[in-house]
Amino acid sequence: MLIGTMKCILITIFAFAADAQRIPVAPLTEAQVESRVSGLLKSMTQSEKIGQLNQLFVFPEAPPDGPAAKLGLAPTDQEIAKGDYGSFLFVTDPSVINRMQHVAVDKSRLHIPLLFGFDVIHGFKTIFPVPLALAASWDPALVEQAQAVAAREASAAGVRWAFGPMVDIARDPRWGRIVEGAGEDPFLGSAMARAQVRGFQGKYLGEPGHVVTSVKHFAGYGAADGGRDYDSSSISDEQLWNVDLPPFHAAVEAGAGTVMSAYMDLNGVPATANSFLLQDVLRRAWGFRGFVVSDAFAVANLTTHGFAKDAEDAAFRAITAGVDMDMGSRTYIRQLPKLLESGRVSSKQLDDAVRPILATKVRMGLFEDPYVDESGARSIFASPDHRELARVAAQRSAVLFRNEGSLLPLPRGSKFASIAVIGPLADSQLDIRGPWALADDPGQAITVLKGIRDKVGSGTRVEYARGGELRRVYPSMFDAIRHSRKTVPLTDEQNVAEVRAAVELASQSDLAILVLGETQEMSGEGASRTSLELPGKQQELLAKVAATGKPVVLVLLNGRPLDLTWASQHIPAILEAWFPGAQGGNAVADLLFGDANPGGKLPVTFPRNVGQVPIYYAHNLTHQPDTAADFTSRYWDQPTSPLYPFGYGLSYTTFEFSNLRVDQGSSVEVRVDVKNTGDRAGDEVVQLYIHQQFGSASRPVRELKGFQRIALTPNEKKEVHFTLGGNELEYWSAALRKMVRERSVFDVWVGGDSKAQLHSTFTVLRP
Ligand code: BGC
Repeated sequence: MLIGTMKCILITIFAFAADAQRIPVAPLTEAQVESRVSGLLKSMTQSEKIGQLNQLFVFPEAPPDGPAAKLGLAPTDQEIAKGDYGSFLFVTDPSVINRMQHVAVDKSRLHIPLLFGFDVIHGFKTIFPVPLALAASWDPALVEQAQAVAAREASAAGVRWAFGPMVDIARDPRWGRIVEGAGEDPFLGSAMARAQVRGFQGKYLGEPGHVVTSVKHFAGYGAADGGRDYDSSSISDEQLWNVDLPPFHAAVEAGAGTVMSAYMDLNGVPATANSFLLQDVLRRAWGFRGFVVSDAFAVANLTTHGFAKDAEDAAFRAITAGVDMDMGSRTYIRQLPKLLESGRVSSKQLDDAVRPILATKVRMGLFEDPYVDESGARSIFASPDHRELARVAAQRSAVLFRNEGSLLPLPRGSKFASIAVIGPLADSQLDIRGPWALADDPGQAITVLKGIRDKVGSGTRVEYARGGELRRVYPSMFDAIRHSRKTVPLTDEQNVAEVRAAVELASQSDLAILVLGETQEMSGEGASRTSLELPGKQQELLAKVAATGKPVVLVLLNGRPLDLTWASQHIPAILEAWFPGAQGGNAVADLLFGDANPGGKLPVTFPRNVGQVPIYYAHNLTHQPDTAADFTSRYWDQPTSPLYPFGYGLSYTTFEFSNLRVDQGSSVEVRVDVKNTGDRAGDEVVQLYIHQQFGSASRPVRELKGFQRIALTPNEKKEVHFTLGGNELEYWSAALRKMVRERSVFDVWVGGDSKAQLHSTFTVLRP
């Protein structure tokens, strides 16, 4: 009987392989997938099924005696052949992937391929700007292309599963993982979520050259208490439904194949055992059909939370809440046999967890085509088109904060014949790439110093001074994860001497370009900060260079809003480049010298200082809005307004908004004219905000409900059109505990940032 079934499966697999070859041209139907999966399930033993739920970290290059290797506890070929693993993460070398895959496919009883996953967050071999920067482009089509390139490279290596996009809304810049998401706003966040899912997965799950996504961290991870990574989140229902959940919902609607459960307690229940999130919302309300993977070791850590009694209870609570795959902790493989034997977990519950994992492998075409072409992979990695797109993405992500006296763009030639490039990040190939750059070659990264040198040519003297170093325990995030090499910091005297040398260089030059910000590991996981000031001695360096009286341009490389209050008053030109990726140096030089015009806008509010945190534009009005009078919602010592508002960003040209028209039919049609009133071509991000004046709940003072990035030549005028349909006007009412669209009067503003002044109103009579 078993042999008969086996034969049948092999024939089906073979027939499918012959049919579809290496390149399936269309997605499989539900019925085809279902029949393959049911066939497999019938033939699988209980331990083979549990194996599919088990994912292990493998660090092939880690020293065998180091802590990283212990996390992975390298799998043996016998275990793989026995079917103990459904998936591995952190293997990125195509030859290692092929070798492991051969063991799984050739030596196992049912030939079930492995699914290799990795943190493909902002590129794989070609490193793109960090996600927060990509969101600052306000250009979903660009973001889709960037993630499609990342998917192409990852899948060429055999990594068919990206642990991204991270769609957590973050309104507290102390939280280092703000760098991995799209910032503070659910509307922009949802647009970026959809774009990333499309880019990663392509037109259908299994499209060649693409990967399956894992939307994370479900849900509420961005609201960590005190901005401390991993800390509990306390989120009201109103916030959850209106702010935190929408980007996840958008990603699921766009077809995201997997979801990663978050680490933290959400309102007292760890997300990895939270059946409200994983069953009620994800599966029942949204109809999610893929599988859920826990975050790393999160199943085992249900005991650490003080939630599960022991490892067995942890496995029970995670699987019954809806976590299908256990990342890294081996809790399922160790505990599920007992739970099945005692009947606490039923064989149906086990099958329900295995089914979507197998279905994903079937859809991804892994049964037909589990291996990669290693030399083909190398040529994909080397694609010049990928590097070009990374450069364009970095140009389009940069945000110009200040440009007094039109210091930028810099003229080439005689005016600034000598340029001092200064700062601990100016020539750092590691840092310009940002935090999730783990599979690339850092030696390929173009620093700002190199970008400037290549741009100006021999007529201009460019000299560099580091100006002190930023303290760093590990030389890179890569080393931090593997707990390998540590660095030897400079002494205080050496730092002081470097600052002095930098100031000296500035005073002998015509212009100083300071490249300051954060090292790559200061933003990202486990990288919370209590201060938003420039870390280390950078503020002192900046002030001393400014005191030379030379014109100063400040270029920022960072992954979170920083406190730039002093710089915003004393430094004439400030360009926020974020962590712009491996082509960042070229892109920054393009922007500084006018070969590209900044058009990015802030996806997150920049506070005046850390004391204003959390600060975001879409707050509610309160009974006493801040009008600068006493007894209003404000501080004694600082204005409530931010330093730079959400949506803000300058250009080398200027734009004028006029003629706002609102027409109402079954939807609300909003039109506005936008004109380039300067003398350079440039991009403007046209942003539409609404406010519902009254209803069953108070609504935010403004909410983004439409945006378009448009390009205009000098004097060119374009009409921009937005439609406000049902979705844009609805919200989850805390009073009525459901999504509503209400009769009300709405304000509408259109402009170039969240302070837009051009205003109109419309009335919704029939909800
Ligand atoms: C992070 C996830 C990541 C996983 C695997 C965890 O610590 O929270 O975002 O995907 O590690 O690297």
